[in-house]
Amino acid sequence: MTSANDTAATATTTFRPSGLTTDDARNVLPVLQLDDVTKTYPTSPPVHALRAVSLTVRPGELVAIVGPSGSGKTTLLHLMGTLDRPSSGTVRLTGLDVATMVDDDLAALRATRIGFVFQQFFLAEHETILDNVADGLLYAGVRQAERRQRAREALELVDLGSRLRARPTQLSGGQRQRVAIARALVGQPAIVLADEPTGNLDQATGGAILSLLDQLHDRGVTIVLITHDRGIAERMPRRVEMLDGRIVADTPVAPPQPASLNGDTPALHATPPTPRGMP
Ligand SMILES: Nc1ncnc2c1ncn2[C@@H]1O[C@H](COP(=O)(O)OP(=O)(O)O)[C@@H](O)[C@H]1O
Ligand SMILES: [Mg+2]
Repeated sequence: MTSANDTAATATTTFRPSGLTTDDARNVLPVLQLDDVTKTYPTSPPVHALRAVSLTVRPGELVAIVGPSGSGKTTLLHLMGTLDRPSSGTVRLTGLDVATMVDDDLAALRATRIGFVFQQFFLAEHETILDNVADGLLYAGVRQAERRQRAREALELVDLGSRLRARPTQLSGGQRQRVAIARALVGQPAIVLADEPTGNLDQATGGAILSLLDQLHDRGVTIVLITHDRGIAERMPRRVEMLDGRIVADTPVAPPQPASLNGDTPALHATPPTPRGMP
């Protein structure tokens, strides 16, 4: 058993950006690896949503997946997030082949290694934002006191540390999306998958959310951002372009982030965040 004090003390190591355990693994093992992945929806006629997609995401990367509506972005995110299985090809998350895992194991993998952010926030309206974020740890086998402590830290990271008792309905859209981002981060996932996270926000508010993603990237968090907006994709270090279910362009992979790859990952909340232009 740990006392509340111990919990607070150990919490200083929270928010390491990857679920990997050794420095070697952190250097070598991709967080996400898709090989020759296809997805065909068995409608009539069938829809070939993904065709021979291969993609590798390494620790510390911030990747934009960009393409017009219907190009297969959300399908790709669902496969990356193990929410769906490919029709053929392999999806590996932190080295684990999704095809070899039963649904229960996949759910556990999802709960511990992936943080999701969606356009629609998906917050429980009747719960405080502290509990909304703490619920992100429900399946991680963490006791309630520690869930709350880690949720507090995650909310501080997105500059909502002073609103812990607020309910989502009392917050602006930009603030709600920051709660959703805190919930995605609280389990220290290996990767954060964000599907059009600024889609429901005005431009200024959306810009602030993108700045927050930039800051998290600077702190070593691995992020895949899906967007149909070229302007948003342009500001990302790596852009993967999709058209008709295929990857048609992939900018050169950015050099590894020294801070996150040399095994000396900074604790993400060591310095309180100074968000740029938060709404
Ligand atoms: N559950 C589904 N059943 C059948 N077709 C689908 C389903 N989900 C997506 N599609 C089709 O797959 C294609 C890719 O969709 P999607 O991945 O949502 O693209 P995007 O996110 O880029 O708009 C589209 O033609 C879409 O209509
Ligand atoms: Mg989509």
